[in-house]
Amino acid sequence: MENERLKDKIALITGAARGIGFGIAEKYAEEGAKVIIADVLTEEGEAAKEKIGEKADFYQINLRSRESIFEMADVVHEKYGKIDILVNCAGVARPCPTLKLDEETLDEVIDINMKAPLFTCQAVGKYMRRDGGGAIVNISSGNTKMINVGRVPYGITKGAVNLLTQQLGAEWAMYNIKVNAIAPGWIRTEMVETPLKKGILNEKDIVSVSPIERFGKVEEVANLACFLASEESNYIVGQIIFADGGWSTGIMPNALNYIKENDTED
Ligand SMILES: NC(=O)c1ccc[n+]([C@@H]2O[C@H](COP(=O)([O-])OP(=O)(O)OC[C@H]3O[C@@H](n4cnc5c(N)ncnc54)[C@H](O)[C@@H]3O)[C@@H](O)[C@H]2O)c1
Repeated sequence: MENERLKDKIALITGAARGIGFGIAEKYAEEGAKVIIADVLTEEGEAAKEKIGEKADFYQINLRSRESIFEMADVVHEKYGKIDILVNCAGVARPCPTLKLDEETLDEVIDINMKAPLFTCQAVGKYMRRDGGGAIVNISSGNTKMINVGRVPYGITKGAVNLLTQQLGAEWAMYNIKVNAIAPGWIRTEMVETPLKKGILNEKDIVSVSPIERFGKVEEVANLACFLASEESNYIVGQIIFADGGWSTGIMPNALNYIKENDTED
C-alpha cells in the first residue's frame, strides 16, 4: 500500500490476541508496521498472528510479572533492533460489588491494568530514548470520567493510567517519546459481551446514554490508535482522548427523545 502511515515501524501491542488490541494490530499491519502481539492467551495469540500474516509475531507473556515484561522488551528489541511503538491494551475488568471485593482480585487488576503499563513503559522507554524516540498509546477507559458502579478496581487503575499518561507525556517529550491515551466508551468485545450476557450490563441502557445511539467499533479505536502512533499527532502530548460516541458528555438516559420529538423543521 502506498502512503502507509506506519511503514517499517516496529509495534509492541499488549493484549492483542483479541478484541481492541487485535484490531489495533490489524490496523498497524495494514499501515505498514510489524506488530508483536503480546498476550497471555497462547491459542488466541497464535491465531491472531496467523490472521494478520507475515507482518505479525506472537509473544506469550503474563503481564503480571515485571521480570517477564523487561525480558520481553529485551527480546523484542534484540530481534528487531528497535521498538517504535508501544500500545498498552491488555486489561481486565472484574466487576464486583465493592463490599465483596477481595484483595486477590484487587491485586490482579492493579497488576494488569496499572503496574504492567508502567513497567512496559519503563522497559520499552529505555530503548526508545536510546534509539531517538517513539510513541506510546495507553488504552484507558471512559470509566475514568463516567462511573460504572461495581468496578472500583477497574476505575481506579484506569484513572492511574490517565495520570501515568500525563506524567510520562510531560517527562519524556524531550526524548521525542510521545505518550497519549485513548479512553474508549463501549465496544462489544469479550470484556463487554460477558457482562451483557450475565445481565450486569444492559444494551439499551448503554445506547440510551450514548449520543451516537450505538456501541463503538473496534476499528474506530484502532483508527485513533494509528493516528496517535503516527507522525500526524506529533504535537499531541500527554492527552487522554475519549472515543466514546459522546457518552462522557454525560447525557441522561433517553434525553434525546425530547430533541427527536421537538426538533422539527420549521
Ligand atoms: N470493550 C470496551 O468497551 C472497552 C472500553 C474501555 C476500555 N477498554 C479497554 O480496552 C482494552 C482491551 O479490552 P477489550 O475490550 O479488547 O477486552 P478483551 O478482554 O477482549 O481483551 C483484553 C486482552 O488482554 C489480555 N490480557 C488480560 N490479562 C493479561 C495478562 N495478565 N497478560 C497478558 N495479557 C493479558 C487478554 O488475554 C485479552 O487478549 C482493555 O484495557 C480495556 O480495559 C475496553
